[in-house]
Amino acid sequence: MKKQELLMQVPTLFGLEGVAADELKYAGFQDVQAGNGSVTFTGDLRDMARANLKLRSGERVLIVMAQFPAESFDDLFEGTKDTPWENFIGSMDRFPVKGWSLNSTLHSVPDCQKIIKKAVVERLKECYGNPWFEETGPLVQIQFSIMKNQVTLMLDTTGAGLYKRGYRPQAMQAPIRETLAAGIVNLSRVHTDTFVYDPMCGSGTLLIEAAMKAMNMAPGLKRKFSFEAWGTVSPKMTEELREEAKNAVKKDISFEGVGADIDPEAIALAKHNADRAGVGHLIRFKEQDVKKLRVDQFDMTDHKKTMVITNPPYGERLLDVQQARELYKTLGIVCRPMKDHCYSFISPDESFEEYFGRKADRKRKLYNGMLKCQLYMYYK
Ligand SMILES: C[S@@+](CC[C@H](N)C(=O)[O-])C[C@H]1O[C@@H](n2cnc3c(N)ncnc32)[C@H](O)[C@@H]1O
Repeated sequence: MKKQELLMQVPTLFGLEGVAADELKYAGFQDVQAGNGSVTFTGDLRDMARANLKLRSGERVLIVMAQFPAESFDDLFEGTKDTPWENFIGSMDRFPVKGWSLNSTLHSVPDCQKIIKKAVVERLKECYGNPWFEETGPLVQIQFSIMKNQVTLMLDTTGAGLYKRGYRPQAMQAPIRETLAAGIVNLSRVHTDTFVYDPMCGSGTLLIEAAMKAMNMAPGLKRKFSFEAWGTVSPKMTEELREEAKNAVKKDISFEGVGADIDPEAIALAKHNADRAGVGHLIRFKEQDVKKLRVDQFDMTDHKKTMVITNPPYGERLLDVQQARELYKTLGIVCRPMKDHCYSFISPDESFEEYFGRKADRKRKLYNGMLKCQLYMYYK
């Protein structure tokens, strides 16, 4: 790592580490390494801001402030006090502490929180000469993890998770998280000229993420991040990055999306969300039962590839397992193998392929919340 550079950690949903790492590499970030539930990279504050704006599949961007071993509260206190918090925390800022501990001697999270807070206060008292801190200013959230007695201290630059793009104030039942939808779109290889069809689109998340990807629209364009209130990050730099991101949006593309759902309320909401996201002109929505899907009738004039991507009911929150399996059977009938047609379905059902009627060409383990799922991909 070069001087002045920061180590950044991006937590991801389990299964999306590789996708987030590829995104970061493709966007030119340095020293990208995928771990278990997170990805790291190095860079400066501009890179931190750029990652917040651009990342589709990561959950947040954390600055790693220190890493050290600790088996006692003294170790934890000293390691924390040795960390240059004043580089980011101003004398009026709020700096709450949260975190977790796993397989470590220091297992009480509330006690660790108290020790870390005390050590940061001690450090800042010495730096600013304050006898106490009012903490009425911007939020600089401290996050810690202790894993096998190894402490990592971090600052959360993002605030509300990156999945909060700002286009989905409301969702239908069982919506897919935007970051997971973006990961599925990435794994399915959506391009500027792809035709994407979601026959059970609910709030429209998969199609909206697909259209945003095709347009090269940065997912963070319509929201603010925690770091923007920090005195240490130049607002001019962030504004320049936003302008760059706006100028990089591709307007003249042949991407087309169609979303269908049996529920008219879902269709109305999906339309609204797509408009809010700024991709409404690329997606049509209609009320339709998946049984009526006819993949051979898609108009392919402007498209090289057709993709059906969907997040069907699992029989957990929507329908029961038997009804969900009936839908998998229906999908198997309507999504026939056809040249230049690809299909991606996410489901936790281990028997999905049996009901769908064909073995997937590729499977990828993904977590939808706490639920272990597979993305079943068919290439023709
Ligand atoms: C898990 S939700 C999809 C959530 C969506 N990905 C989102 O982010 O909001 C499944 C959707 O399938 C729809 N659905 C259920 N049975 C259907 C059928 N026979 N035909 C079309 N849509 C159906 C439901 O109305 C629901 O919106």
